[in-house]
Amino acid sequence: MTMPAVETAPDAPQPHGDDLWWRSAVIYQVYVRSFADANGDGTGDLAGVRERLPYLAALGVDAIWFTPWYPSPLADGGYDVADYRDIHPAFGTLRDAELLIADALRLGIRTIVDIVPNHVSSEHPWFREALAAGPGAPERERFWFHPGKGAGGAEMPTGWVSNFQGETWTRTENPDGTPGEWYLHLFTPEQPDLNWNHPDVRREHEDILRFWFDRGVAGVRIDSAGLLIKDPTLPEVPERPAPGQHPTEDRDEVHEVYRTWRRIADSYAGARVLVGEVWVPDAKRFADYLRPDEMHTAFNFDFMSRAWDASELRTSIDLMLDAHAPVGAPSTWVLSNHDVTRPVTRYGREDSTFAFAKKRFGTPTDLELGTRRARAAALLTAALPGSLYIYQGDELGLPEVELPRELLQDPMHFRSEGVDPGRDGCRVPMPWSGDASPFGFGPDGASADPWLPQPTDWAARTVEAQEADPGSMLHLYREALRIRRAEPSLGDGRLRWLDAAAGVLAFARGDVVNVTNLSDAPVDLPVHEELLLASAPLVGDRLPPDSTAWLRVRPEPSRSRPDAP
Ligand code: NOJ
Repeated sequence: MTMPAVETAPDAPQPHGDDLWWRSAVIYQVYVRSFADANGDGTGDLAGVRERLPYLAALGVDAIWFTPWYPSPLADGGYDVADYRDIHPAFGTLRDAELLIADALRLGIRTIVDIVPNHVSSEHPWFREALAAGPGAPERERFWFHPGKGAGGAEMPTGWVSNFQGETWTRTENPDGTPGEWYLHLFTPEQPDLNWNHPDVRREHEDILRFWFDRGVAGVRIDSAGLLIKDPTLPEVPERPAPGQHPTEDRDEVHEVYRTWRRIADSYAGARVLVGEVWVPDAKRFADYLRPDEMHTAFNFDFMSRAWDASELRTSIDLMLDAHAPVGAPSTWVLSNHDVTRPVTRYGREDSTFAFAKKRFGTPTDLELGTRRARAAALLTAALPGSLYIYQGDELGLPEVELPRELLQDPMHFRSEGVDPGRDGCRVPMPWSGDASPFGFGPDGASADPWLPQPTDWAARTVEAQEADPGSMLHLYREALRIRRAEPSLGDGRLRWLDAAAGVLAFARGDVVNVTNLSDAPVDLPVHEELLLASAPLVGDRLPPDSTAWLRVRPEPSRSRPDAP
C-alpha cells in the first residue's frame, strides 16, 4: 500500500506591505486552461503562467485571480471541484502552484484563488460517500438529498429553475437499483449543492481558506457567493419574493458565513481579501455583503451589464458609488469575465447590454465600433474610483468567438437546448505570437491543437503584433495602467462630476479629468494643461465619438482636494 504524501508545512513567502492594496488594485483574471500552454498538450497550465509572469508585470497588474485550478472533471470548466487542496493534473502540481504564487509575489503580483463553496463536483469524495451510503445516512446530510413528491416519489421536491436553465434536482438510484432520493444542484447535476447548515461544510471551507492563505495567496474570489443558504422547508419561489426570502438566493443567514471567513482572513498579515461573486440586483442588499466585517469587495455587475449609453452608465456609476459609500468599501469595475460576452463584441451590437438570457448565435456585430467603445470603456473604468478587473485577452481586444456548435463544451449551451451559444466564445486560448494557431499558446512546432480552436485571423491580435503597434489595445492598456499607478488621485477615492454636453461623462479625480464621449459628434475638451492619454486620436482639439481622454487640469486653488479620499 502506498502512503499518502505527507503535507509539509509551507515555507511560502507571504504577501506584505500596503494593507490597502485591494482598494485600488488592478486585478487580472487568468482562465488557466486558456492562458499559456507550456507542455504543448493544448491546455493551458501553471508552468505556462509562470513563463508569462513578466508579461503581466509589464502590463502593470497588482494581482492575478485564477479561475479554479483544482482537480475536476471539468463538467463546468472547473467550477465542479473534486479536491480543493490540489491542482488539476493537466495544469500541474501543488508545487507548481506554490512556485507560481512565490514567483508572482517576487514581481509584486499577488494571487487570488477561486473558492467554490456552493457546490462540489459529483466526483468529490463527500458526494460519492453520500451516494454509496444510501437514504437516511449521515453522509447525505452534507448535501440536499430529499424524497420526491407524488406517487413513488417520482416528482422533484421543488420546481426551482437552475441558474443554467432546466431542473435543479436529479434522482438517485438506491444501492439495490430502485429509484431513490433526489439531490439538489442549482447548476448542473455534476455540481451537487452543499448543505451549509452542516458543521462539516463550514469547517471544511474554513480549513480550505487557511490552506491557501498559508501558501501565500492574498485573497479568494468567492463563487456564487449569494447562493449558499437554502430555505430548508423547500418552498416554491414566490412570484415576488420579499428581500431575503427567496428560497435559494441572497438569504440573510449567508452573511454569518462571510463574517467567519473575514475573521480568518484578518488573522493573516498582509491584508488577505474576500472578493464576492454576488449577483444581487438590489444595490443596497449587494452592499450588505461589503459591511466592514464581511467581504472586502464584490464584482460590480451592474455597470458591466449596462448599455453603452451615457445616462445608463452615469446612473450605474452613481448607484454603485452611493451603495458602497455607507459601508466604506471601494467599488470594483469590471468589463467582462469568463462568463460573459467580450466587450469589443458586446459594444459593437445594437443591444450592448449584457444578460445571459439574451445570448444568441449570429447576432450582428460591428467589431470596429465595438473596439472603439471598448478602448473608451477601458480608460473610463480605469479612471473610476476603486479596483479594476481585466479579463485575460481584453487587453488584446479579443472578440467573442462564434465556435461551431459541435465544438462547444459549456453546459449553459446544452441546457438551453442549443439556443444559448454558451461561454466558450470568451474562453478561446490566448494568441501570443506568430501567424498561425496555436499563436504561441503552446511551444512552437510541438503543440497539440488548443482545446478550443483559435480563429485563423488572429495574427494581428497577438501580443507580439500588438507590442509592435503603438496604436494597439495592448499599448493603450499598458499606458493606462502606468498612468493609473503613477497618479495618486486615481484608484481609490471619490470623483467629482463636471458639467458636460449631453452624451458625455466628465469627472475629476484630483487634477486628472476623464472625459468619455458617448454622443455621436466630436466634443470640446475642458481647459487642460496636458493630454495624458486618449483612446482615439483627437479631431483637431475635439474628442471624437466613442472615445475617452484623460487630461491633466490645473488644480482649483479654492479646493483642497475635495475629491481626494
Ligand atoms: C460562477 C462562475 O463564474 C461560473 O463560471 C460558474 O459556471 C458558476 N458560478 C457555477 O459555479
